[in-house]
Amino acid sequence: MAFIDSIKEKAKSNKKTIVLPESMDQRTYEAAVKCTKEGIANIIILGTPEDIQNHGTGYDLTGITILDPFTDPNRQKYIDKFVELRAKKGVTPEIAEQQMTKDYMYYACLMCRCGDADGVVSGACHSTGNTIRPALQLLKTKPGVKSVSGFFIVEVPNCPYGENGTFLFADCAVNTDFDSEKLAEIAGLSADSFRAYIGAEPKVAMLSFSTKGSAKHDNVTMVAEAAKIAKEKYPQVKIDGELQFDAAIVPEVAKLKAPVSEVAGHANTLIFPSLEAGNIGYKIAQRLAHANAYGPVLQGLSMPVNDLSRGCFADDIVGVVAMTAVEAMMNS
Ligand code: ACO
Repeated sequence: MAFIDSIKEKAKSNKKTIVLPESMDQRTYEAAVKCTKEGIANIIILGTPEDIQNHGTGYDLTGITILDPFTDPNRQKYIDKFVELRAKKGVTPEIAEQQMTKDYMYYACLMCRCGDADGVVSGACHSTGNTIRPALQLLKTKPGVKSVSGFFIVEVPNCPYGENGTFLFADCAVNTDFDSEKLAEIAGLSADSFRAYIGAEPKVAMLSFSTKGSAKHDNVTMVAEAAKIAKEKYPQVKIDGELQFDAAIVPEVAKLKAPVSEVAGHANTLIFPSLEAGNIGYKIAQRLAHANAYGPVLQGLSMPVNDLSRGCFADDIVGVVAMTAVEAMMNS
Protein backbone atom coordinates (compact mmCIF):
# COMPACT_ATOMS: atom_id res chain seq x y z
CA MET A 1 0.00 0.00 0.00
CA ALA A 2 1.37 3.48 -0.88
CA PHE A 3 2.54 5.53 2.09
CA ILE A 4 -0.29 8.06 1.95
CA ASP A 5 -3.00 5.38 1.60
CA SER A 6 -1.79 3.67 4.76
CA ILE A 7 -1.80 7.03 6.59
CA LYS A 8 -5.39 7.70 5.44
CA GLU A 9 -6.46 4.26 6.68
CA LYS A 10 -4.87 4.99 10.07
CA ALA A 11 -6.58 8.39 10.25
CA LYS A 12 -9.99 6.82 9.55
CA SER A 13 -9.57 4.38 12.45
CA ASN A 14 -9.88 7.15 15.09
CA LYS A 15 -11.23 10.38 13.58
CA LYS A 16 -9.57 13.55 14.86
CA THR A 17 -10.74 17.16 14.52
CA ILE A 18 -8.59 19.23 12.18
CA VAL A 19 -8.98 22.97 11.58
CA LEU A 20 -8.49 24.51 8.14
CA PRO A 21 -8.18 28.29 8.63
CA GLU A 22 -7.81 29.26 4.94
CA SER A 23 -11.43 29.89 4.03
CA MET A 24 -10.21 32.39 1.43
CA ASP A 25 -8.96 29.56 -0.80
CA GLN A 26 -11.14 27.20 -2.83
CA ARG A 27 -8.74 24.29 -2.38
CA THR A 28 -9.65 24.32 1.32
CA TYR A 29 -13.29 23.51 0.50
CA GLU A 30 -12.40 20.86 -2.06
CA ALA A 31 -10.07 19.18 0.44
CA ALA A 32 -12.58 19.50 3.28
CA VAL A 33 -15.27 17.81 1.19
CA LYS A 34 -12.88 14.95 0.27
CA CYS A 35 -11.71 14.47 3.89
CA THR A 36 -15.31 14.36 5.08
CA LYS A 37 -16.52 11.98 2.35
CA GLU A 38 -13.55 9.65 2.91
CA GLY A 39 -13.98 9.85 6.73
CA ILE A 40 -10.37 10.96 7.29
CA ALA A 41 -11.12 13.66 9.90
CA ASN A 42 -13.78 15.92 11.33
CA ILE A 43 -13.11 19.21 9.57
CA ILE A 44 -13.63 22.73 10.90
CA ILE A 45 -13.27 25.61 8.42
CA LEU A 46 -12.79 29.06 9.95
CA GLY A 47 -14.57 31.81 8.07
CA THR A 48 -17.26 34.44 8.03
CA PRO A 49 -20.47 33.90 6.03
CA GLU A 50 -18.95 36.30 3.50
CA ASP A 51 -15.74 34.21 3.21
CA ILE A 52 -17.83 31.10 2.64
CA GLN A 53 -20.06 32.78 0.09
CA ASN A 54 -17.12 34.23 -1.82
CA HIS A 55 -15.03 31.08 -1.97
CA GLY A 56 -17.06 28.04 -0.91
CA THR A 57 -20.18 28.38 -3.01
CA GLY A 58 -20.93 25.25 -5.00
CA TYR A 59 -19.32 22.83 -2.55
CA ASP A 60 -21.48 20.42 -0.57
CA LEU A 61 -20.37 21.31 2.96
CA THR A 62 -22.57 18.72 4.68
CA GLY A 63 -20.76 17.30 7.71
CA ILE A 64 -18.18 20.12 7.79
CA THR A 65 -18.25 22.58 10.71
CA ILE A 66 -18.04 26.21 9.67
CA LEU A 67 -16.95 28.47 12.50
CA ASP A 68 -17.09 32.25 12.28
CA PRO A 69 -14.29 33.68 14.48
CA PHE A 70 -16.33 36.89 14.88
CA THR A 71 -19.41 35.21 16.38
CA ASP A 72 -18.07 31.96 17.84
CA PRO A 73 -19.32 31.62 21.48
CA ASN A 74 -15.82 30.41 22.46
CA ARG A 75 -14.19 33.61 21.24
CA GLN A 76 -13.71 35.12 24.71
CA LYS A 77 -12.12 31.90 25.98
CA TYR A 78 -9.53 32.15 23.18
CA ILE A 79 -8.85 35.83 23.87
CA ASP A 80 -8.24 34.98 27.53
CA LYS A 81 -5.93 32.10 26.61
CA PHE A 82 -4.00 34.27 24.16
CA VAL A 83 -3.43 36.93 26.85
CA GLU A 84 -2.50 34.28 29.44
CA LEU A 85 0.14 32.87 27.08
CA ARG A 86 1.53 36.09 25.64
CA ALA A 87 0.95 38.88 28.20
CA LYS A 88 4.71 38.95 28.85
CA LYS A 89 5.18 39.67 25.15
CA GLY A 90 2.81 42.65 25.41
CA VAL A 91 -0.40 40.96 24.22
CA THR A 92 -3.48 42.71 25.65
CA PRO A 93 -7.11 41.58 25.14
CA GLU A 94 -7.44 44.16 22.35
CA ILE A 95 -4.31 42.94 20.56
CA ALA A 96 -5.35 39.30 21.03
CA GLU A 97 -8.79 39.92 19.56
CA GLN A 98 -7.39 41.85 16.63
CA GLN A 99 -4.63 39.34 15.84
CA MET A 100 -6.77 36.21 16.01
CA THR A 101 -9.50 37.61 13.79
CA LYS A 102 -7.08 39.18 11.31
CA ASP A 103 -5.06 35.96 11.08
CA TYR A 104 -7.17 32.84 11.58
CA MET A 105 -4.01 30.76 12.09
CA TYR A 106 -3.84 32.27 15.59
CA TYR A 107 -7.49 31.35 16.14
CA ALA A 108 -6.87 27.77 15.00
CA CYS A 109 -3.85 27.36 17.31
CA LEU A 110 -5.87 28.70 20.24
CA MET A 111 -8.60 26.16 19.49
CA CYS A 112 -5.96 23.43 19.78
CA ARG A 113 -4.48 24.96 22.90
CA CYS A 114 -7.95 25.00 24.53
CA GLY A 115 -8.67 21.39 23.57
CA ASP A 116 -11.35 22.24 20.96
CA ALA A 117 -9.37 20.82 18.03
CA ASP A 118 -6.61 18.25 17.54
CA GLY A 119 -4.55 19.87 14.80
CA VAL A 120 -4.24 22.54 12.11
CA VAL A 121 -3.35 22.45 8.41
CA SER A 122 -2.64 25.73 6.63
CA GLY A 123 -0.24 27.33 4.16
CA ALA A 124 -2.01 27.00 0.79
CA CYS A 125 -2.02 30.78 0.60
CA HIS A 126 0.34 31.82 3.41
CA SER A 127 4.14 31.60 3.62
CA THR A 128 5.75 28.96 5.82
CA GLY A 129 6.95 31.64 8.24
CA ASN A 130 3.45 33.08 8.67
CA THR A 131 1.97 29.62 9.01
CA ILE A 132 4.28 28.32 11.70
CA ARG A 133 4.98 31.47 13.73
CA PRO A 134 1.58 31.37 15.55
CA ALA A 135 2.16 27.70 16.37
CA LEU A 136 5.64 28.40 17.74
CA GLN A 137 4.27 31.26 19.83
CA LEU A 138 1.11 29.60 21.15
CA LEU A 139 1.66 25.85 21.14
CA LYS A 140 5.40 25.76 21.87
CA THR A 141 7.59 22.67 21.80
CA LYS A 142 7.02 19.27 23.38
CA PRO A 143 8.67 18.87 26.80
CA GLY A 144 12.41 18.38 26.38
CA VAL A 145 12.49 19.63 22.78
CA LYS A 146 14.35 22.87 22.04
CA SER A 147 13.64 23.38 18.32
CA VAL A 148 10.79 22.55 16.00
CA SER A 149 11.92 21.27 12.60
CA GLY A 150 10.19 20.15 9.43
CA PHE A 151 10.50 16.91 7.46
CA PHE A 152 9.25 15.41 4.23
CA ILE A 153 8.50 11.77 3.58
CA VAL A 154 9.98 11.27 0.12
CA GLU A 155 8.81 8.28 -1.92
CA VAL A 156 11.05 7.73 -4.96
CA PRO A 157 9.59 5.47 -7.64
CA ASN A 158 11.64 2.42 -8.74
CA CYS A 159 14.37 3.19 -6.23
CA PRO A 160 16.27 0.38 -4.48
CA TYR A 161 17.72 2.66 -1.79
CA GLY A 162 16.40 3.76 1.60
CA GLU A 163 13.35 1.86 2.81
CA ASN A 164 12.29 0.48 -0.60
CA GLY A 165 12.64 3.98 -2.06
CA THR A 166 11.12 5.79 0.93
CA PHE A 167 13.14 8.34 2.89
CA LEU A 168 12.66 11.02 5.52
CA PHE A 169 14.41 14.33 4.70
CA ALA A 170 14.97 16.96 7.47
CA ASP A 171 15.13 19.87 8.18
CA CYS A 172 13.57 21.14 4.97
CA ALA A 173 11.33 23.84 6.39
CA VAL A 174 12.05 25.65 9.64
CA ASN A 175 15.50 26.40 11.07
CA THR A 176 17.65 28.98 9.38
CA ASP A 177 20.55 28.65 11.86
CA PHE A 178 22.18 25.38 12.77
CA ASP A 179 24.68 24.17 15.32
CA SER A 180 25.75 20.67 16.34
CA GLU A 181 23.28 20.43 19.24
CA LYS A 182 20.33 21.46 17.07
CA LEU A 183 21.34 19.10 14.27
CA ALA A 184 21.65 16.25 16.78
CA GLU A 185 18.16 16.99 18.12
CA ILE A 186 16.77 17.01 14.57
CA ALA A 187 18.35 13.58 14.05
CA GLY A 188 16.65 12.19 17.18
CA LEU A 189 13.24 13.66 16.36
CA SER A 190 13.52 12.47 12.75
CA ALA A 191 14.33 8.92 13.86
CA ASP A 192 11.14 8.92 15.97
CA SER A 193 9.13 10.37 13.08
CA PHE A 194 10.47 7.77 10.63
CA ARG A 195 9.57 4.94 12.97
CA ALA A 196 6.11 6.40 13.64
CA TYR A 197 5.14 7.10 10.03
CA ILE A 198 6.95 4.35 8.11
CA GLY A 199 6.92 1.65 10.78
CA ALA A 200 10.50 0.59 10.04
CA GLU A 201 13.84 1.00 11.79
CA PRO A 202 15.39 4.42 11.11
CA LYS A 203 18.97 4.52 9.84
CA VAL A 204 20.02 8.10 10.23
CA ALA A 205 22.72 9.75 8.09
CA MET A 206 24.06 13.18 8.99
CA LEU A 207 24.90 14.53 5.55
CA SER A 208 27.81 16.69 4.48
CA PHE A 209 30.13 17.22 1.53
CA SER A 210 32.66 14.98 3.33
CA THR A 211 32.67 11.34 4.42
CA LYS A 212 34.46 10.50 7.66
CA GLY A 213 37.03 13.27 7.44
CA SER A 214 37.65 13.20 3.67
CA ALA A 215 37.41 17.01 3.68
CA LYS A 216 38.34 19.55 6.36
CA HIS A 217 36.08 22.54 7.00
CA ASP A 218 34.15 24.07 9.90
CA ASN A 219 30.90 22.94 8.29
CA VAL A 220 32.16 19.36 8.20
CA THR A 221 33.25 19.54 11.83
CA MET A 222 29.79 20.82 12.81
CA VAL A 223 28.11 17.77 11.24
CA ALA A 224 30.67 15.31 12.64
CA GLU A 225 30.14 16.77 16.12
CA ALA A 226 26.36 16.57 15.65
CA ALA A 227 26.68 12.88 14.79
CA LYS A 228 28.78 12.30 17.93
CA ILE A 229 26.24 14.12 20.14
CA ALA A 230 23.32 12.28 18.53
CA LYS A 231 24.96 8.88 19.03
CA GLU A 232 25.47 9.65 22.73
CA LYS A 233 21.99 11.11 23.20
CA TYR A 234 20.10 8.40 21.29
CA PRO A 235 22.20 5.23 21.81
CA GLN A 236 19.34 2.99 20.70
CA VAL A 237 19.20 4.65 17.23
CA LYS A 238 21.50 3.81 14.30
CA ILE A 239 23.09 7.17 13.47
CA ASP A 240 26.27 8.00 11.59
CA GLY A 241 28.05 10.98 10.06
CA GLU A 242 29.44 12.89 8.54
CA LEU A 243 28.50 11.11 5.29
CA GLN A 244 28.14 12.25 1.70
CA PHE A 245 24.79 11.55 0.10
CA ASP A 246 26.08 8.69 -2.09
CA ALA A 247 27.97 7.09 0.79
CA ALA A 248 24.80 7.31 2.89
CA ILE A 249 22.46 5.52 0.49
CA VAL A 250 24.47 3.45 -2.04
CA PRO A 251 25.98 0.23 -0.58
CA GLU A 252 28.80 0.03 -3.18
CA VAL A 253 29.93 3.59 -2.43
CA ALA A 254 29.61 3.02 1.31
CA LYS A 255 31.95 -0.01 1.06
CA LEU A 256 34.63 2.28 -0.35
CA LYS A 257 34.07 5.39 1.74
CA ALA A 258 32.73 4.17 5.11
CA PRO A 259 33.21 0.40 5.25
CA VAL A 260 32.66 0.00 9.00
CA SER A 261 29.52 2.14 9.26
CA GLU A 262 26.25 0.32 10.03
CA VAL A 263 24.29 3.20 8.47
CA ALA A 264 26.30 4.04 5.35
CA GLY A 265 24.79 2.49 2.23
CA HIS A 266 21.48 1.83 3.99
CA ALA A 267 20.34 5.23 5.30
CA ASN A 268 16.62 5.99 5.13
CA THR A 269 16.57 9.11 7.33
CA LEU A 270 18.62 11.95 5.87
CA ILE A 271 19.61 14.92 8.03
CA PHE A 272 20.77 17.84 5.90
CA PRO A 273 23.37 20.28 7.23
CA SER A 274 21.39 23.42 6.38
CA LEU A 275 17.90 24.57 5.42
CA GLU A 276 19.20 25.35 1.94
CA ALA A 277 20.41 21.78 1.44
CA GLY A 278 17.25 20.16 2.86
CA ASN A 279 14.83 22.39 1.02
CA ILE A 280 16.65 22.14 -2.31
CA GLY A 281 17.24 18.42 -1.80
CA TYR A 282 13.59 17.42 -1.48
CA LYS A 283 12.61 19.60 -4.45
CA ILE A 284 15.32 17.96 -6.61
CA ALA A 285 13.96 14.52 -5.69
CA GLN A 286 10.42 15.71 -6.42
CA ARG A 287 11.13 17.36 -9.76
CA LEU A 288 13.91 15.22 -11.24
CA ALA A 289 13.11 11.80 -9.80
CA HIS A 290 9.31 12.29 -9.82
CA ALA A 291 9.25 11.50 -6.11
CA ASN A 292 6.14 12.02 -4.01
CA ALA A 293 7.07 14.42 -1.21
CA TYR A 294 4.67 14.61 1.74
CA GLY A 295 5.14 17.54 4.09
CA PRO A 296 6.56 19.64 5.49
CA VAL A 297 5.45 17.89 8.66
CA LEU A 298 6.50 19.78 11.77
CA GLN A 299 8.16 17.73 14.49
CA GLY A 300 8.76 18.79 18.08
CA LEU A 301 5.62 20.94 18.48
CA SER A 302 3.34 20.17 21.42
CA MET A 303 0.39 19.68 19.05
CA PRO A 304 0.26 18.90 15.34
CA VAL A 305 0.29 21.89 13.01
CA ASN A 306 1.32 21.35 9.44
CA ASP A 307 2.21 23.56 6.56
CA LEU A 308 1.34 23.31 2.86
CA SER A 309 3.11 24.40 -0.26
CA ARG A 310 1.40 27.34 -1.93
CA GLY A 311 1.46 25.35 -5.16
CA CYS A 312 -0.44 22.48 -3.54
CA PHE A 313 -3.49 20.73 -4.94
CA ALA A 314 -6.57 19.85 -2.89
CA ASP A 315 -5.39 16.21 -2.80
CA ASP A 316 -2.14 17.36 -1.18
CA ILE A 317 -4.17 19.08 1.54
CA VAL A 318 -6.12 15.84 2.09
CA GLY A 319 -2.80 13.99 2.52
CA VAL A 320 -1.47 16.51 5.03
CA VAL A 321 -4.78 16.44 6.95
CA ALA A 322 -4.42 12.66 7.21
CA MET A 323 -0.82 12.98 8.45
CA THR A 324 -1.86 15.63 10.97
CA ALA A 325 -4.69 13.43 12.24
CA VAL A 326 -2.32 10.48 12.65
CA GLU A 327 0.14 12.71 14.52
CA ALA A 328 -2.69 13.80 16.82
CA MET A 329 -3.51 10.15 17.41
CA MET A 330 0.10 9.41 18.35
CA ASN A 331 0.15 12.37 20.77
CA SER A 332 -3.05 11.34 22.56
N1 ACO B 1 11.58 25.93 17.36
C1 ACO B 1 10.86 26.38 18.43
N2 ACO B 1 10.55 27.67 18.61
C2 ACO B 1 11.01 28.55 17.70
C3 ACO B 1 11.77 28.17 16.58
C4 ACO B 1 12.06 26.78 16.43
N3 ACO B 1 12.75 26.29 15.42
N4 ACO B 1 12.07 29.28 15.86
C5 ACO B 1 11.52 30.33 16.50
N5 ACO B 1 10.88 29.89 17.61
C6 ACO B 1 10.09 30.67 18.57
C7 ACO B 1 10.89 31.76 19.21
O1 ACO B 1 11.50 31.30 20.37
C8 ACO B 1 9.83 32.80 19.47
O2 ACO B 1 9.11 32.49 20.63
P1 ACO B 1 8.61 33.68 21.59
O3 ACO B 1 7.89 34.67 20.70
O4 ACO B 1 7.71 33.00 22.57
O5 ACO B 1 9.84 34.27 22.21
C9 ACO B 1 8.85 32.63 18.31
O6 ACO B 1 9.08 31.31 17.80
C10 ACO B 1 9.09 33.62 17.21
O7 ACO B 1 10.47 33.63 17.00
P2 ACO B 1 11.23 34.64 16.07
O8 ACO B 1 12.70 34.35 16.12
O9 ACO B 1 10.74 36.03 16.32
O10 ACO B 1 10.63 34.07 14.79
P3 ACO B 1 10.68 34.53 13.36
O11 ACO B 1 9.69 35.55 13.09
O12 ACO B 1 12.07 34.76 12.94
O13 ACO B 1 10.12 33.16 12.71
C11 ACO B 1 10.40 31.12 11.71
C12 ACO B 1 10.56 31.88 13.01
C13 ACO B 1 9.04 31.42 11.16
C14 ACO B 1 10.49 29.63 11.95
C15 ACO B 1 11.55 31.57 10.77
O14 ACO B 1 12.74 31.02 11.25
C16 ACO B 1 11.38 31.18 9.33
O15 ACO B 1 10.75 31.92 8.58
N6 ACO B 1 12.01 30.04 8.91
C17 ACO B 1 12.08 29.66 7.52
C18 ACO B 1 10.77 29.21 6.97
C19 ACO B 1 10.87 29.03 5.51
O16 ACO B 1 10.79 29.99 4.77
N7 ACO B 1 11.09 27.76 5.07
C20 ACO B 1 11.31 27.43 3.69
C21 ACO B 1 10.09 27.20 2.90
S1 ACO B 1 9.21 25.79 3.38
C22 ACO B 1 8.99 24.86 1.99
O17 ACO B 1 9.52 25.08 0.94
C23 ACO B 1 8.16 23.66 2.15
